[in-house]
Amino acid sequence: MSSVELDHITIRFGDFVAVDNCNLTINSGEFFSFLGPSGCGKTTILRAVSGFNEPTEGTVRIGGKDMRGSGPNKRPTALIFQNLALFPLMSVADNIAFGLEVAGIKYNERRRRAEELLNLIALPGQGDKMVSELSGGQRQRVAIARALAVEPEVLLLDEPLSALDLKLRQHMRTELRSIQQRVGITFIYITHDQGEALTMSDRIAVMSAGIVQQVGNGSDIYNNPATAFVASFVGENNAFHGKVSRVEDGFAVVDTSFGPMRGINNRGLTEGDEAYVFIRPEAMRPAKPGDTTEDTTFETEALKEEFEGSFLHVFLRSENEEKPYKMALVNDADVARQKLGAPLRVTFDPKRAVALPVGELADE
Ligand SMILES: Nc1ncnc2c1ncn2[C@@H]1O[C@H](COP(=O)(O)OP(=O)(O)OP(=O)(O)O)[C@@H](O)[C@H]1O
Ligand SMILES: [Mg+2]
Repeated sequence: MSSVELDHITIRFGDFVAVDNCNLTINSGEFFSFLGPSGCGKTTILRAVSGFNEPTEGTVRIGGKDMRGSGPNKRPTALIFQNLALFPLMSVADNIAFGLEVAGIKYNERRRRAEELLNLIALPGQGDKMVSELSGGQRQRVAIARALAVEPEVLLLDEPLSALDLKLRQHMRTELRSIQQRVGITFIYITHDQGEALTMSDRIAVMSAGIVQQVGNGSDIYNNPATAFVASFVGENNAFHGKVSRVEDGFAVVDTSFGPMRGINNRGLTEGDEAYVFIRPEAMRPAKPGDTTEDTTFETEALKEEFEGSFLHVFLRSENEEKPYKMALVNDADVARQKLGAPLRVTFDPKRAVALPVGELADE
């Protein structure tokens, strides 16, 4: 088990900054994810940990040891790519034991170790099968076993589930998390899928354009986003734009085209700042006659509804015709359908609304 320190890492390709001053420590035994859109620098960071490239500035330490100058085979890491690259003409056991064979370990010991790992990945006794006889999820598990066979201290996983269909991907989330808990080593996981990151990780670093925007556990990132990018990238969110008219008791009131709106002010907004108030779809509901507080209600119109089983999604008129706001109502016994095209007053819990400085929003 080893911690991984990224000490002020910057990685440039010519003039292009792929990773900009990333400074964080991944704890020993932690399941840590980097989450961000395509091109934000996730793979570049992983390659710097595994030794396939060196940072332009800063230091990578694994288990406290400076890794500069140590090539990939000198580091206590193993890497699993999106494309698993199992050997199709070898048996499952030979695939798993491949790294051990390269290391000169004798047949019987390799076999014993492969069997142990087959138990770990819940494929006991299946070592003599050919890779082609396995399902996608089983192959995925064999790739993990192969990476674990060389007993890395840190396992690096670069979007390892992206080739699988949705059902299998969801199943493998649970699977991967439980394998990590059983072996207890540090996992660094890369994904652009927030669902994967939220369900599996102890902590997540959310990245955009080379910059780590926030590091925290899933509920920190979802409930208390640090930037407009994180608020709009992780989960669905409604952004109301305006200027801060007042700050009080940890809240900011923002004057928007829908009137004043109140949200938690954890990022030091002051009067006059340009800001967004982010309100999750599930934090909104139709106002009742008693809901009269001006800065926690607003007037809009229900445009469309989508019934999804557990939720009723209501699309609300926003400033932008192409991007209506979204309200999600739990489908309990008395969820009321809204009258489409009619004015609708909506209310929200200001403790679940977040006021943040304006900044880049994630693309849909
Ligand atoms: N060897 C290289 N030379 C020049 N530019 C590079 C090189 N490797 C990566 N980049 C650039 O650095 C940026 C980050 O790339 P990276 O592969 O880390 O993105 P990513 O977050 O893993 O994206 P994806 O989710 O699509 O895999 C991209 O703009 C990419 O074009
Ligand atoms: Mg990548």
